[in-house]
Amino acid sequence: MKPKNGLKGELTIPADKSISHRAVMFSSLAKGSCIIRNFSSGADCRSTLNLFKKLGVDINVTEEKTLTVKSDGMLKSSDIPLYCGNSGTTMRLVSGILAGSNNEYILTGDESLSKRPMKRIIEPLKLMGAKIYSDNGCAPLKIIGTELHGIEYSSPLASAQVKSCILLAGMNADGKTVYKEPYLSRNHTELMLKYMGADIKAKDNVISISKSDLTAKDIDIAGDISSAAFFIAAGLIVPNSDIIIKNTGINPTRTGILDVVKRMGGSLELMNKVEKSGEVVADIHVNYTDNLKACTIEGADIPRLIDELPVIAILASQAEGETVVKDAQDLRNKESDRIKCLVCELSKIGIDIEEREDGFIVKGKTKIRGGAELNSYNDHRLGMSFYVAGLLADNELGIEGYEWTKISFPEFDEMMNNLQ
Ligand code: S3P
Repeated sequence: MKPKNGLKGELTIPADKSISHRAVMFSSLAKGSCIIRNFSSGADCRSTLNLFKKLGVDINVTEEKTLTVKSDGMLKSSDIPLYCGNSGTTMRLVSGILAGSNNEYILTGDESLSKRPMKRIIEPLKLMGAKIYSDNGCAPLKIIGTELHGIEYSSPLASAQVKSCILLAGMNADGKTVYKEPYLSRNHTELMLKYMGADIKAKDNVISISKSDLTAKDIDIAGDISSAAFFIAAGLIVPNSDIIIKNTGINPTRTGILDVVKRMGGSLELMNKVEKSGEVVADIHVNYTDNLKACTIEGADIPRLIDELPVIAILASQAEGETVVKDAQDLRNKESDRIKCLVCELSKIGIDIEEREDGFIVKGKTKIRGGAELNSYNDHRLGMSFYVAGLLADNELGIEGYEWTKISFPEFDEMMNNLQ
């Protein structure tokens, strides 16, 4: 429901989900011990943490959001399937890690993850000699660890999960692996592997890696811009809002949302930039803007804001003109078919949104109607996006499956309430 006086105040965004996954995975592969500070409390990162504990890595939560990881760099075998929960990042990156091991493993996931495409990693891994099997191109995956060899691979997808899977397999393979992607996707894997001493080189969207040992290093995790996006959007569209979002990661492979806000004419300012374990963070100051303008989002923009597209649809509903999102076909393969689900649900509250095979078109400005019950399809980012839409409605908006926000951002509700 509409907050009376807008959203006002400061908040500190919790840890980046992508970086948290990688911090546990790569520290587990390194010999030695390290401390990970500001680890995500989302269920997805918990899936990665539990999985590496099952693989014999000594991981302890020493205080809230702080972990110690001790490893000899060797992963144990596991007779029971390794459960990845709802997390595509866990399943795809771990597949790359286990493909070159000496053991056999089964990877499983929940109902949503078991429907998501895995051929995108199975095919290139097989080219490296991996023994990875699936009945229908989806989880469960069976991996029989074996010796791998490097490949040159030009990926049809700009996907950080596929890229990371192949680079991690390449780190354990004979010879060099060269990976090319159509547009640069998030590069946290490249930055963190470099930070931990891997033999990796990146030039634009071509990355090469050779067999490497990692050195354990302490990691302080930046805040998640994908979580900040809900506050950025809400701050721009809820009248009278004025919010400072602290400690947000602004790695340029993730800041597509900031560029879109600029193109739309939103009032947003970055302050206090500092580096944290190889990533840059800043505070974001955002103010209500009543003259937002529509824009087109396509091509190289897409991997830089792929997870923000649901909340961008809400933002676009409050911008004058037609916002066109294209080249985002892969949005159909996320925790839900985010194109179909967004169009179906947002239409119920008066948003003028049209489905396209590779995206959607939103015509603004529209008045958002409350009183409806929207289905989040158990997709955390849809749940939080619908909450933002609800901030413009005169009466309550119900959200089915809202509890799934715990996947990436259990603190979301409390942080939103603190601003009202
Ligand atoms: C992620 C990469 C993206 C993103 C996902 C997290 C990662 O997926 O949507 O939420 O941590 O590498 P794709 O790489 O499949 O686009």
